[in-house]
Amino acid sequence: MAIRNMVYEGDPLLRKTSREVTVFDDRLGTLLDDMAETMYQQNGVGLAGVQVGVLRRVVVIDIGEGKIELINPTILKTSGSQVGSEGCLSFPGQFGLVERPDAVTVKAQDRHGNWFELSGTALLARALCHEIDHLDGIVFIDHASRMLDPNETLPKNKRRVTAHVKKEKTDK
Ligand code: NI
Repeated sequence: MAIRNMVYEGDPLLRKTSREVTVFDDRLGTLLDDMAETMYQQNGVGLAGVQVGVLRRVVVIDIGEGKIELINPTILKTSGSQVGSEGCLSFPGQFGLVERPDAVTVKAQDRHGNWFELSGTALLARALCHEIDHLDGIVFIDHASRMLDPNETLPKNKRRVTAHVKKEKTDK
């Protein structure tokens, strides 16, 4: 594994649309491993391929409950809403107030190409929306109702995070 170089605010790459992953090989596995290592090194909860300069639809998330890898993810449904503080490893030290759905279900492939569905609430729902946005060149400041003062603290979303994974039987 290796730490990859990060792409930061101002880099036009962050505004590009990432391409679908079509080859599920060792190279993809290495990319995912490197992305996780890069995310953990910076204490992040999520990272998209574009943030390490790879314009592919790949995401890693870990909100403290284990690593989630999402290849070619799409949002199937959302419900509710939550407003809270949000940041991004590509925007160090910046936080904004962002409204997101409170529950999200996504469909994605794992590193071997198998489809599954993942439902998450609270912080996981927020992370899913944030990372999938990155794949379409959208960043959190686009959604922020306002940016937070560096010393401003907001009450945390106390709602318990739930996550549910369902393996899909659908044929491709
Ligand atoms: Ni981000």
